[in-house]
Amino acid sequence: MSSAKPSKTAPDPDLAGLLLAWYDRHARALPWRVSSSDRMHGVVADPYLVWLSEIMLQQTTVQAVKPYFENFATRWPEVTDLAAADTEDVMKAWAGLGYYSRARNLKRCADVVAKDHGGRFPDTEEALRALPGIGPYTAAAIAAIAFNRPAAVVDGNIERVFTRLYEIGTPLPSGKSEIRTAVAKLTPADRPGDFAQALMDLGATICTPKRPACALCPINDTCQARRSGRQEQFPVKPAKKPKPVRLGAAFVAERGDGAVLLVKRPDKGLLGGMSGVPTTNWTVRADGATGAKSAPFPADWLSRGVISHVFTHFELRLEVFHAVVTSTPEFPGWWSETDSLAGEALPTVMKKALGAAFPGMFRKGKT
Ligand code: ADE
Repeated sequence: MSSAKPSKTAPDPDLAGLLLAWYDRHARALPWRVSSSDRMHGVVADPYLVWLSEIMLQQTTVQAVKPYFENFATRWPEVTDLAAADTEDVMKAWAGLGYYSRARNLKRCADVVAKDHGGRFPDTEEALRALPGIGPYTAAAIAAIAFNRPAAVVDGNIERVFTRLYEIGTPLPSGKSEIRTAVAKLTPADRPGDFAQALMDLGATICTPKRPACALCPINDTCQARRSGRQEQFPVKPAKKPKPVRLGAAFVAERGDGAVLLVKRPDKGLLGGMSGVPTTNWTVRADGATGAKSAPFPADWLSRGVISHVFTHFELRLEVFHAVVTSTPEFPGWWSETDSLAGEALPTVMKKALGAAFPGMFRKGKT
């Protein structure tokens, strides 16, 4: 199982051409994209909006990103507006999207582009990679989509398409360089950004992880996995290790008027700079340091059950304690009134903790 050898008899099909023709008819209308009719009238992608969408789309679905993107693009229409914004407002607008270091880097990157690049994003992969929060994938995507550079863009969808197309069987992540080489080889000098987005759309709508709709695929004739009927066996993933569990306790202190005590988490680390209820440290041990004994101050703490939240590298289980306090304790934080809670920079795990103490609150989940 390795890359395909081109057939000696059949001419190489123009895979890029087939994908671009398919994209022209079937591209998803997404708020950060230039529509095909606008494109025909010479409208080009705005690098700021491409960058914003790519940062948001790291680790997050298109569906979840759409309303956040629209809010950011309306509120801060230019990179200089984002640079001038208050970091706290940016964190609040990001709350619920997860992976909060992205939001901090987003702000830092906007600052650097505004200050050091005169408010214009640099137009090469190399210069883009030097900016905060921009790794190899994002640099390639921005270079291709916003600046028409023939960069090889490889995200999860594109990995799936290519491992199937050529039956690349090296398990990920080791297989990435083989995939990259194959993508680079097919990427056209003309319309590299549309080519990348065509592959993303193909992966999202047709070459799906389960039950791909191969009959509708514009490059199905060339697809080796389709020929062998082994589509769902690609990409080959390494055996999954179970996620370690960390434990802790969260403390929802309620004042007589319903206000809740919130704290700002330290800037560094997971959920850095976001708001939440006080918690203990999160550790692998179940002991006094992860239970009610570690409450931030004495009160009639009652357990409201355990909530679980899965992060990239571990599962967090927090026992949620709730107390109504009669006198306001000395504690470095602030009291957020019921009406203000929705506007706080609360990550999903904190909304779950509040939901355990106040059934019904944030029931819709990740907003
Ligand atoms: N995922 C990451 N970037 C994307 C884009 N430009 N279009 C669709 N899905 C994406």
